[in-house]
Amino acid sequence: MTMSSTSARPVTGLIYVSRLLTDRAMSHLHSLGAQLRIGSEAPPDRAELEAGIAGASAAVITLTERVDADLLAAAGPQLKVIANVAVGFDNIDLSATESAGVTVTNTPGVLDRASADHTFALILDATRRITEGDRLIRSQQPWVWGPRMLVGLDISAGATLGILGYGRIGQAVARRAHAFDMTVLASSRSRTPGSVEDGVTFVDTSTLLAESDVVTVHTPLTAETHHLIDAAAFRAMKPTAYLINTARGGVVDEAALIEALHSGQIRGAALDVFEGEPRVNPALLDAPGLVLTPHTASAGEATRDTMGILAVDNAAAVLAGKPPLTPVQ
Ligand code: DGY
Repeated sequence: MTMSSTSARPVTGLIYVSRLLTDRAMSHLHSLGAQLRIGSEAPPDRAELEAGIAGASAAVITLTERVDADLLAAAGPQLKVIANVAVGFDNIDLSATESAGVTVTNTPGVLDRASADHTFALILDATRRITEGDRLIRSQQPWVWGPRMLVGLDISAGATLGILGYGRIGQAVARRAHAFDMTVLASSRSRTPGSVEDGVTFVDTSTLLAESDVVTVHTPLTAETHHLIDAAAFRAMKPTAYLINTARGGVVDEAALIEALHSGQIRGAALDVFEGEPRVNPALLDAPGLVLTPHTASAGEATRDTMGILAVDNAAAVLAGKPPLTPVQ
């Protein structure tokens, strides 16, 4: 942990930054001229987190840090704002922050394109068996082109994409799906089944599961969406379908996914997020037709710069007595 100190700028109070952000975001942070306490690249353990946040007026944190009443007590009553470097904020107990009078901010909007691009990379990888082909070549087994070799789904030949959750990222995924000539269905609490918007037909979740060739999850993790994709959902999907999850691990019941892949209830899947993250259930590693990435959907260079800068600006705004740019609460 390093400390630096400062001068006369409108941003007053100590800013704790739990993890090193990108170089551009760190330069932006230093340009505030505020007093800083900065963690390292690795996530802090709980003791380091409590020590880091103690006495801070603002905390810029990532989704690996859990914020609850105990952490807020460790921080102290001077804490004004928690700026999450993520659009998701299921790592933060909002009732605890509300009771403590602490503002919470996130980074909506700036990672939609990167997340949708990664979702599409996973759709293409799972359906066209890219990683499987890569593994085949690296295994140095003999291979030769063949009419039946590594055949997968042609998403651009009339396949249907089902988008669960139609927020900004879901909408960005829909735009990419249209470029691939896919039929696009979506289900959303804020849209009426049967309505059509920008070429997307809204349906209820069971229709979406039954009719989609690829189902992609874009809901936040809440009590209502926990295990939204469970054994019954896999039974409702086509045996030729694929599941993609770049949202939060807890939305998909991993045990049910593993069973669905082994039993052929669905043909394939791709996960960027995990129930026990960063621990990965070892049974996932042996599940057939499964592509895995380590929560990197937003890991575009410009995107990660912008996420960090927005979080820093949110913290700075609150410390300067201004409204935050993107408040959660
Ligand atoms: C988010 O922002 O919530 C992503 O999961 C991490 O970039």
